[in-house]
Amino acid sequence: MRAKVWKRWRRTASGILLAAVVSGACGQGDPQRGLYLSKAAGCIGCHTEEKKDAAAYAGGRALKTPFGTFYGPNITPHPEAGIGRWTEADFIRAMRHGERPDGANYFPAFPYPSFTRITDADLRDLWAYLRSLPPNSRANQSHDLGFPYGWRPLVALWKWLFFTPGPMTAQDTSPASRGAYLVQALGHCGECHTPRNFLGGPKTSRFLAGGDLPDGKGVSNLTPARLKTWSDADIANFLTTGVTSDGDVPAEAMGEVIRNTTSQLTPEDLSALIAYLRTVPPVADEPKKK
Ligand code: HEC
Ligand code: HEC
Repeated sequence: MRAKVWKRWRRTASGILLAAVVSGACGQGDPQRGLYLSKAAGCIGCHTEEKKDAAAYAGGRALKTPFGTFYGPNITPHPEAGIGRWTEADFIRAMRHGERPDGANYFPAFPYPSFTRITDADLRDLWAYLRSLPPNSRANQSHDLGFPYGWRPLVALWKWLFFTPGPMTAQDTSPASRGAYLVQALGHCGECHTPRNFLGGPKTSRFLAGGDLPDGKGVSNLTPARLKTWSDADIANFLTTGVTSDGDVPAEAMGEVIRNTTSQLTPEDLSALIAYLRTVPPVADEPKKK
């Protein structure tokens, strides 16, 4: 009898031990690392209202696009107003596949076409960070989109044409490889710096080559065709202070990226990002349309 109890106890104990090891292996994300990743990805900008003392990540930021105005939602852990009822798997699905927990598609104004390239480990850290925020009850407002763009099922077509889900692979330990990850996955630089066709899909042959935005404002060419005249120090200086070597101050869109993102990078990450920009295929500016 004693032996039997002992045996059962041993089985239970090793079960508990095994469960602990397994959960340690898939692990909880690290909120501190997640904070850094959220800066590298500029999450705060689109998810915080543009007014003094706005609650960070509580949503309400208006994002004007040719298709209408989007409002970044509340992503604090509030159970009704935010994403407090979500599981980590819901979050990973949103970021990796651009899908809501109920299966509907997100509009690509949420830059998941870039964020899909973030690794699982980094997504878990981002999730852990979002969970650590104070819950805020600010209610979401609906997007204000022109016909027919407000129709979510249409996004399925867009995704079929332009969206390839999946994390970045083939990363090595070189700075340029880290830089590629910072530019393509986290920093989503191409969301503005790669021009789009009339359906809003990226023109991949002009990757990072800039051009005219639909509203007529220009976005700079980040390929070596233009940046070859900038030294590494010029680029680093611009991306940390927002001032070019001739004293120019950038347009507000880039000013915000510098404030929230590139100026927050570690010196190693900043130079990795620049090392990667040097390796991008050079693409000449498009001739100016009259
Ligand atoms: C360029 C603006 C932009 C950036 C940067 C951005 N988001 Fe968003 N995000 C949006 C918009 C717009 C939506 C709503 C999309 C929709 O309604 O289809 C959204 C939706 C979401 C949702 C779904 C919320 C819900 O209630 O369904 C989550 C989660 C989210 N974003 C997390 C993040 C995280 C984490 C980051 C940084 C890694 C980030 N976002 C960066 C614009 C942005
Ligand atoms: C929200 C849109 C947006 C995003 C995202 C964005 N940029 Fe920009 N960027 C701009 C605009 C607009 C300009 C042009 C600024 C001007 O002319 O005043 C610019 C200018 C620049 C310049 C100056 C180049 C020159 O020739 O003057 C550099 C360098 C740059 N961006 C790097 C980046 C990097 C690196 C990222 C990703 C971490 C990034 N940008 C993400 C909009 C964006």
